Amino acid sequence: MKAQTIAEGVYCLHADIQTTDLFEGIWPIPDGVSLNAYVVRGEKTALIDLVRDWTGAPQQLADCLASIGLDFSRIDYLILNHLEPDHTGWLREFRKQNPGAEILATAKGINLVKTFYKVETGLRAVKDGDTLDLGGGKVLGFFETPNIHWPETMITWEPVSGTLFTCDAFGSFGTLGDRVFDDEFTETEHVFFEDEGLRYFANILSSFAVFVEKAVRKTAGLDIKIVAPSHGPVWRENPQKIIDRYLKYASWAGGPAEKKIAVIWGSMYGQTKEGVDAVIRGIEKEGIPYVVRRVPDENVSWVLTDAYRCSGIVLAMPTYEYAMFPPMSYVLDIFRRKHIYGKKVLRIGSWGWAGGAKKDYEAAIEALKWTSIESYEWPGSPTEEDLKMLEAKGAELARALKAE
Ligand code: FEO
Repeated sequence: MKAQTIAEGVYCLHADIQTTDLFEGIWPIPDGVSLNAYVVRGEKTALIDLVRDWTGAPQQLADCLASIGLDFSRIDYLILNHLEPDHTGWLREFRKQNPGAEILATAKGINLVKTFYKVETGLRAVKDGDTLDLGGGKVLGFFETPNIHWPETMITWEPVSGTLFTCDAFGSFGTLGDRVFDDEFTETEHVFFEDEGLRYFANILSSFAVFVEKAVRKTAGLDIKIVAPSHGPVWRENPQKIIDRYLKYASWAGGPAEKKIAVIWGSMYGQTKEGVDAVIRGIEKEGIPYVVRRVPDENVSWVLTDAYRCSGIVLAMPTYEYAMFPPMSYVLDIFRRKHIYGKKVLRIGSWGWAGGAKKDYEAAIEALKWTSIESYEWPGSPTEEDLKMLEAKGAELARALKAE
């Protein structure tokens, strides 16, 4: 792997991670993820963000450094925009190889350097508006941008090239290979990064959507020519495209999103599934697009992404031992944690010897600020009358979206 030149003295390094491990221990990454870091060279050299020791990432970074005549021991400043271990996990080893480098982060970031890695010296806390003069005309600026994605996060700015180093903000799942810039990817690859970018946003950042908007406002006065995140492509041809895309995703938190319905269902023996089919017939009659996800067969990562992007949701689950079908309880717990607010929702489901899902469901969604179409439940297999009602419920939800 080689470093890619962004501008004179500004380089992108990255490690591609291909693994069956889950990102954050939760989210599948079947197409991998890139861990990007950056070098800015004046008279002194700064490395912005690091990697964790994951499928050879430190060696990939070392190879990139070697391609521009550097190694870890020649870094003067290590700037940590965000302390999550995907960007910092290798810090102790870096410290061993380079005991003299000064480590810069926000005050909260410095606390995490100490608690995560037990590094106590050579630390400098920076705050909004602080700068670091590397000499040779390279001066880095820092903007505190809390909660993208943890409270300690910041963004680093290099004004000569107009590069904004944003760490998690404007990132995406997916490996990069030997290209990193937006103008190097094909249309098909852009579709891939758009899909994986939305999944990344929904999985990692949806709870912090409001802070994405705040960060964009804070950096609005800068003449941004390049957006350089620490996951996914570097945006130099059209940096505004990824900023606008992220603002669109952030605007979906708590309010209308795409005029589309996510049909999320689980069924033990097919009786709830018959109801789902009837609801879909109703949605189709109204001409609203929909996407179907079955739980637990499909991973919650994609279920969450579709729930985030759609204004309407159908949740279909049978009663299981006097409560909700357990995989749906997990889905709703994730929705609560990820702030899947402000949706229009229809819940349906069958029950066997007794109900119970309804009560359990209503308690689970209390905090979600949803507009609910009245739930529909039936014992055992749905009757013709049940199926008619379910189709009408599907149509009612679709019309509610049309009226948004
Ligand atoms: Fe890529 Fe929140 O770490």
